[in-house]
Amino acid sequence: MRILVSGGAGFIGSHYVRCLLSGAYAGYEDAHVTVLDKLTYAGNLANLRPVDGNTRLTFVRGDITDAALLDELVPGHDVMVNFAAETHVDRSIAGAGDFVVTNVQGTQRLLQAALEHDVRTVVQVSTDEVYGSIDDGSWTEAEPLLPNSPYSAAKAGADLLCRAYHRTHGLDVRVTRCSNNYGPYQYPEKVIPLFVTNLIDGRPVPLYGDGRNVREWLHVDDHCRGIQLVLDKGSGGEIYNIGGGVELTNLELTERLLDALGAGWEMVERVPDRLGHDLRYSVDSSKIRSIGYTPLVDFDKGLDEVVRWYRDHEDWWRGLRATTS
Ligand SMILES: NC(=O)c1ccc[n+]([C@@H]2O[C@H](COP(=O)([O-])OP(=O)(O)OC[C@H]3O[C@@H](n4cnc5c(N)ncnc54)[C@H](O)[C@@H]3O)[C@@H](O)[C@H]2O)c1
Repeated sequence: MRILVSGGAGFIGSHYVRCLLSGAYAGYEDAHVTVLDKLTYAGNLANLRPVDGNTRLTFVRGDITDAALLDELVPGHDVMVNFAAETHVDRSIAGAGDFVVTNVQGTQRLLQAALEHDVRTVVQVSTDEVYGSIDDGSWTEAEPLLPNSPYSAAKAGADLLCRAYHRTHGLDVRVTRCSNNYGPYQYPEKVIPLFVTNLIDGRPVPLYGDGRNVREWLHVDDHCRGIQLVLDKGSGGEIYNIGGGVELTNLELTERLLDALGAGWEMVERVPDRLGHDLRYSVDSSKIRSIGYTPLVDFDKGLDEVVRWYRDHEDWWRGLRATTS
């Protein structure tokens, strides 16, 4: 079994690769993993250091939009899992060009290469943000796509290409749509690591608008197990929401992080709301639960562990913080 993991040096992709290579996924203990990653600002070889030297890992630095590279690399792979994307909503508001190129065109190039080189199954890692914003209730996979940020619009474009490659060419491609992730190795521009690393340094944390936006938080390990389950037990052409985490307003999340770091509300700096800021995301995960998914990581425990991880891994994030702040 050979698996191509694009974007495998980022936050979630590297967690998936570390799990695969540590034997966490039954039936894949002998799988050979090729990581294809451009190493943008968000990609980091240090994320793969725990599996460095593993003889089942090959790392290739490259771009998923590079069709010639894909023609060389993809033959011989049985499975592709695509994590590669531009992922930060604020950056997509500042400039959407790279988001369209990587998230839309890059996904199309991967699908085309999978088709031409007989890859058995592709899993496209998407996001709940493609559905837009929902005041109450939860989205099933049948909901229309109503993305509001350039990031989520580009991810929605990729989802539609997956659908088209399945319907038109019969490609076995499965799409997962997960809620917000937290965990170790998350780039410190995203809210949890940003707040934790600021508070470790005694710096204020920026809270958008009135802080009433609601997000559903899932540990990265639960997300990756969901992706693996879709690869194992899902079906081609299908979409699977992955949620089942904990819903919190940004105010509630901030409170938890302040408590965990022993800080008070005086450390919170109110900043103008993000443009087009979605109020609430919530996915209905019954479909993936019907094939055996259950999230396992308790949020309070998971969050404490993540805070401890950032405390213990300053060497990992200090250099990254220096380039973002
Ligand atoms: N972080 C979340 O909460 C979340 C939730 C749901 C879905 N997702 C999706 O999961 C995937 C991974 O997210 P993440 O948080 O790990 O992102 P990330 O920004 O940490 O990592 C993205 C990775 O993709 C690589 N990359 C970017 N452009 C590339 C290109 N053109 N060619 C090759 N590699 C490229 C980067 O170098 C990086 O390693 C994304 O597709 C994202 O949309 C993320």
